[in-house]
Amino acid sequence: MTIPELRQYKGGKKLVVVTAYDALFARIIEQAGIDVLLVGDSLGVVVQGQANTLGVSMDEMFYHTRLVAEAAQRALVIGDMPFMSYQASREDAIRNAGRLVQAGAHAVKLEGGSTIIDQVDAITQIGIPVVGHLGMTPQSVHRYGGYRVQGKAEEDAEVLVNDAKVLEAAGAVAVVLEAIPAMLAKRITEQVSMPTIGIGAGPHCDGQVLVLYDLLGLFDEFVPKFVKPYAHLKADALQALRRYKEEVEQSKFPSDSESYH
Ligand code: KIV
Repeated sequence: MTIPELRQYKGGKKLVVVTAYDALFARIIEQAGIDVLLVGDSLGVVVQGQANTLGVSMDEMFYHTRLVAEAAQRALVIGDMPFMSYQASREDAIRNAGRLVQAGAHAVKLEGGSTIIDQVDAITQIGIPVVGHLGMTPQSVHRYGGYRVQGKAEEDAEVLVNDAKVLEAAGAVAVVLEAIPAMLAKRITEQVSMPTIGIGAGPHCDGQVLVLYDLLGLFDEFVPKFVKPYAHLKADALQALRRYKEEVEQSKFPSDSESYH
């Protein structure tokens, strides 16, 4: 998948995106035929066990992006720019977007609209594709006072529609819409020509993204309404680990067939 191919996902075949944080899962996701891997700063929550994404560093994003990008054969890899890696200046944005590309990302994702348009422009100008992220942007969790649906009031909805247009004008190649009403996501999708990628934004977006551990049923500490677990791997893992413990304690494992002679 290339950026020109990604841009064609508008109003036709749906774009399917999943987060990935390591080589093992990057390969499994690709085997499933999914062509866009997002190395999300959600790794702060699902991999590192933090309460939010704010503590994720550039070095950590570099490391996980490298693991995923080196494993990916065909997929487009989008690297998330973590909190404070781009907000302060164009220079920070250029330098840190460049680092993610050096780690193997094909595009970078930034949270925000008009307030970070300078940074989107700067990164785009040096030839790095930018994916925007609007709606409930997790790096602003303290402003919202929690993970809450955004854009319900008409004036907030208008800001988001405008932000999407401004991002597109600054060169964004796609935009993630997170936790906004389905009809607002539809309105934005109709008013921009870049693909929209929804997460908790209803069925009208040009594509969908989910956090890998949510869709596999591995992470159950906080399950938003928009998550559909397609497997229950936490339950499977617990069952396997309990059986292993039991068999070791009862001297059933290792048996003859797991022993060398
Ligand atoms: O960090 C992440 O995984 C994301 C997705 C939830 C869109 O930004």
